[in-house]
Amino acid sequence: MLDFSPAVSFYRSTKARGVGLSRQAVESSARVAPDAPVPSAGTPAVRAEAIRKSFGDNVVLDAVDLTVGAGQVLVVIGPSGSGKSTLLRCINLLEPIDSGRIFFEGQEITARGVKVDQVRQRIGIVFQQFNLFPHLKVIDNLTLAARRVGKVPRAEAGLRALDLLKLVGLEDKTRQYPHQLSGGQQQRVAIARALMMAPHVMLFDEVTSALDPELVGEVLIVMRDLARSGMTMIVVTHEMQFARDVGDHLMFIDEGRIVEQGKPADVLDHPKEERTLRFLRRSLQLAESLEELTVGEVESHEEGGRE
Ligand SMILES: Nc1ncnc2c1ncn2[C@@H]1O[C@H](COP(=O)(O)OP(=O)(O)O)[C@@H](O)[C@H]1O
Ligand SMILES: [Mg+2]
Repeated sequence: MLDFSPAVSFYRSTKARGVGLSRQAVESSARVAPDAPVPSAGTPAVRAEAIRKSFGDNVVLDAVDLTVGAGQVLVVIGPSGSGKSTLLRCINLLEPIDSGRIFFEGQEITARGVKVDQVRQRIGIVFQQFNLFPHLKVIDNLTLAARRVGKVPRAEAGLRALDLLKLVGLEDKTRQYPHQLSGGQQQRVAIARALMMAPHVMLFDEVTSALDPELVGEVLIVMRDLARSGMTMIVVTHEMQFARDVGDHLMFIDEGRIVEQGKPADVLDHPKEERTLRFLRRSLQLAESLEELTVGEVESHEEGGRE
């Protein structure tokens, strides 16, 4: 297993036994506001309260509540267009919410006067499209933001970048350009880059969806080990096996509402709601018996899913 614990600078969950919480790591980590208290061990890493978000008439998030404990992994599943990306973007303050509140380590980050840049440094996000800078070498992709935004000195940023590239298994690619790497390698660079700012929470938005199937595993392994090292994560994914093995909690959302949630195995094996069942069947059918399906059948399922 890759051990990310030195890079996971905050609380350690019981999952990462033997890796003691360093008080120093907590205290030295920048806080989102100068007067924000160091959160106590019971404070959730992320809590959202009745968040709503519309684009014009389109209600995309409709009173969504969630809580993610420090060191926990929340998996979010749901059909295309159900609001998953918007949810992550709102948590990371990339999108303003219309109403509701979002708390990060006990502090309301949707309140006025919160320093958005400081919040974003603590909440890493990785997208389906890796968004690496094509004209920068791998190592510079990692160090740029740390040096510019995080004001980390060059030498220190370089050392941290090397450590992280080792962790994601790419220490031999530091001088390559993104186009010289496979999609899986690029996505691992993107994860390492997000870790440069020592985030306390990582958000993953379908990070394996654009990859060739044989490259999915190497990215999921990095994410699994990051979770085991104690990182708090919210993971939007269609990888049900990952959800089951790595998730502490799973949430199914449709049309901006949480339809059902619980332990991943419970929701996946015994969904209580018809809509969840239909979604899971469709995903499974697509995964397991594509050759027997026709486009017409899949489309009729889709229509059935939108009541
Ligand atoms: N910036 C935007 N402007 C207008 N509509 C948007 C924007 N972002 C997302 N939407 C709409 O919000 C809905 C949810 O989108 P999204 O959060 O991307 O869903 P998902 O990630 O579950 O596929 C969709 O109907 C989408 O068209
Ligand atoms: Mg999305």
